[in-house]
Amino acid sequence: MHSEKRIPVNGVEISYLEAGVADAGAVIFIHGFPFNKLMWTSQLEALGKTFRCIAYDVRGHGQSQASDVEFSIDLFADDLLAFLDALKIKKAVVCGLSMGGYIALNAIQKQPEKFAALLLVDTQCGADTPEGREKRMKTIAFIRKNGLEVYAEESLKNLFAPASFQTRRQAVQFIHQTILQTPAEIICRTLQALANRTERCAYLSTINVPVCVVVGSEDKITPPAVAQKMAAEIPNSTLIVIDKAGHLTNLEEPEVFNKAVIGFVKNIKLQ
Ligand code: MLT
Repeated sequence: MHSEKRIPVNGVEISYLEAGVADAGAVIFIHGFPFNKLMWTSQLEALGKTFRCIAYDVRGHGQSQASDVEFSIDLFADDLLAFLDALKIKKAVVCGLSMGGYIALNAIQKQPEKFAALLLVDTQCGADTPEGREKRMKTIAFIRKNGLEVYAEESLKNLFAPASFQTRRQAVQFIHQTILQTPAEIICRTLQALANRTERCAYLSTINVPVCVVVGSEDKITPPAVAQKMAAEIPNSTLIVIDKAGHLTNLEEPEVFNKAVIGFVKNIKLQ
């Protein structure tokens, strides 16, 4: 297991794990919602043999501090850029899953020079629809009243492909625990941030670094059609559809996922 490190970023302490070759180019992993850096353990193992790999906790999640500042994807993107500065990383490959992808797409628009390449995993460029926003507000009210148990159970059904409940029991259990261990108030504040986010689709055609779009064939939250559309808009992009996986491709099909990511990153000039 990699030891946890902490660094001050934007008024909070950010917790991260680092693996691999210190002076190699960096690959930064951003987790989805409501998870934390530990969802990337298998990627740190596999990619850490060749690259410098860093997985961090978005503020409020895992072991990173929250502060009272209102959460937004914009703030999380500022945190990512400040995190790179704090670690003196000039350029990185950034891999974001779902909410991590929203953060990466926001950050690359602010400071494209910091990105050598992007991996957009089980994510989308659009904002919430009015119905989607309404649903998030109802979820916030539900969690404040009832706590996290039912919310966690319901979330699992959408996150994993049906077969994963048999074949990837450990991953399902890990994500279940991760949701239950995240403070309810952090989940509510992040749901609000997700509901308030703005769309990034108009920006996709201007991205001028290599992009790998990855999606699970059974992703219900950000389905393959959404990934296909994003990849079609991005000039230098590759689309990888991972069979038998739902929304958490890196946990449901880790071997296939790692192979795809290594294949993509090894062709990127990282320094
Ligand atoms: C995630 O996995 O980060 C979430 O599904 C994102 C979202 O709810 O929009």
